[in-house]
Amino acid sequence: MWNYYSRRASKWESELLPPLAGHCQNVPEFFLCCFYATFIHMQSEEIRQKFLDFFEKRGHAVIPSAPLVPENDPSVLFNTAGMQPLVPYLLGVPHPKGKRIVDVQKCVRTQDIDEVGDATHDTFFEMLGNWSLGDYFKEDAIKWSFELLTSKEGFGLDPKRLYITCFEGDSNAPKDTVSADIWEKVGIPKNRIYFMGAKSNWWSVGENGPCGSDTEMFYDTTEIGLGDLSIEEFKQADKEQKVVEIWNNVFMEYEKKDGKIIGKLNNQNVDTGAGLERLTLVIQKWKSIFDTDLFTDTIEKINEFATDDNERSKRIVADHVRTSVFLIGDNVTPSNTDQGYVLRRLLRRAVMHADKLGMKPSSLFWIAETVIEKYKNVYPVLEQKKETIKTEIEKEEQKFRKTLKDGIKQFEKISSHGISGKDAFILFSTYGFPFEITKELALEKNISVDDKEFDEEFKKHQDLSRVGAEKKFKGGLGGTDEKTIQYHTATHLLHQALRTVLGSHVSQKGSNITPERLRFDFIHSQKMTDEEKKKVEEIVNEKIGQALHVNVVTLKKEEAEKTGALHFFGEKYPDEVTVYYIGDTIDQAFSKEFCGGPHVKNTSELGHFKISKEEAVSQGVRRIKATLE
Ligand code: ALA
Repeated sequence: MWNYYSRRASKWESELLPPLAGHCQNVPEFFLCCFYATFIHMQSEEIRQKFLDFFEKRGHAVIPSAPLVPENDPSVLFNTAGMQPLVPYLLGVPHPKGKRIVDVQKCVRTQDIDEVGDATHDTFFEMLGNWSLGDYFKEDAIKWSFELLTSKEGFGLDPKRLYITCFEGDSNAPKDTVSADIWEKVGIPKNRIYFMGAKSNWWSVGENGPCGSDTEMFYDTTEIGLGDLSIEEFKQADKEQKVVEIWNNVFMEYEKKDGKIIGKLNNQNVDTGAGLERLTLVIQKWKSIFDTDLFTDTIEKINEFATDDNERSKRIVADHVRTSVFLIGDNVTPSNTDQGYVLRRLLRRAVMHADKLGMKPSSLFWIAETVIEKYKNVYPVLEQKKETIKTEIEKEEQKFRKTLKDGIKQFEKISSHGISGKDAFILFSTYGFPFEITKELALEKNISVDDKEFDEEFKKHQDLSRVGAEKKFKGGLGGTDEKTIQYHTATHLLHQALRTVLGSHVSQKGSNITPERLRFDFIHSQKMTDEEKKKVEEIVNEKIGQALHVNVVTLKKEEAEKTGALHFFGEKYPDEVTVYYIGDTIDQAFSKEFCGGPHVKNTSELGHFKISKEEAVSQGVRRIKATLE
């Protein structure tokens, strides 16, 4: 308990403690005041609601969060930003709720998992966002951001602690002096507005879709206040987490195809994202998101169980359990593939850190219960699924523990001279150690792990697909019977034939294969005509008739990209990837795709290709079902 209060002391020392001490006559009264003070600042629930209310009052329709797992979009595992479920609307499809939208989107991002434990990183977060779909633009977006952040009716933040970045311009788009001028007009001094390059002030998700320059808001979290900073000093303060990015306004007016800006969209859109955790951190004046009310109950619960005082491990447990609770709430269960693998990895990592903290086995589901308690009013599904969530967590912990003991013994045995990729793979496949955990254990002992060899082993055992390059054919490739393999190759032919007939905007949104048929979802806005379907069938059958070789090469990712092979843009691929191409040489191949296989050796093995159905899945996404006879 003491920890909890001493963490809060940083705030009290600077502003709350002196007035409180002045008011209190004796020690018990002082503690009573402290207790009261703990709860007087704006709680996260109020922050969330204020955001929604503020924009609702300004004509925005409130929409609920989409699920964490994108519907009909296997190109990404999770929604990682508020804009993802809204992409079709940013591209011009009218939204049923109108041109102004506001929401709180649940997001999972795991690429910074190693950073979790510092002041601002987490694997789950809520993104507060307001949207203009071809309606207002920079002026209103910036004014409203400033008003909500700094007004008394809003969050009451100190404008003197705000720093702003704007896009400095490049060959794609001009320097954004318009935004900078608006910021100046609302009262930000010129010397706190910094121009930066596309790396920090251009937003897009992957290589295709809507994109544009952005302006970002940072807040000074230091006790004394940093004052004016040169651009270098600002960058350094950002690195040291003395200033924290709290909100991003993206002005989406461009479209990207295959990584290149191809022109302006018909609409000028605004997409904004403010991370609730970080906003709460600055509003409540803490140093870390783990000190905010979003986490304090959870950390408190961990403290009840922990005998060791490792701050980082506590934060990792709190973060990973919270993310797991939300994932299971959205129907993900631990497994060795896709989203399930991420969940497994998070839970197993949480178990390892719980052990480090001296927590008793089976403590995690109690932590989960605290998380559910904290969030159940906002996300009632968590309460409804409470038993499932707890059971899944407990089951996974048990499963892991069964193998953990043997695994650690095995690790100790083999780790004296470094861990080969093969060893790491055995730890993964036999002992259930996610690769990251092996790496973490190795790091503690200062020994190396051969990543590349692990990847090679992995590829050899494709029945254990993982988050990475080759996992995308959902459902279909678990079974690798002959028919499934044929359909997989036919899917590649179909993908390319569709691009030939309909245009290069066609890209895969989903794929599912059973021994009876293939199903392929792709981006295209109109119903296909009978003639187009016929043409696609003809092309696929022509390629089958030509008895083309199906080849596979392993290439460095950059080289593979240069071949023009299709892949999921925005996906994080390993340094080396396999590319399947259909035809004699990769340059002249009819189809080439990043893919883990398996495929037939020759297209002559496929039989006759026939489209059995063409239908809409969602706005802008069509679905084809086809058979091989
Ligand atoms: N899409 C923007 C982001 O996620 C707002 O930062």
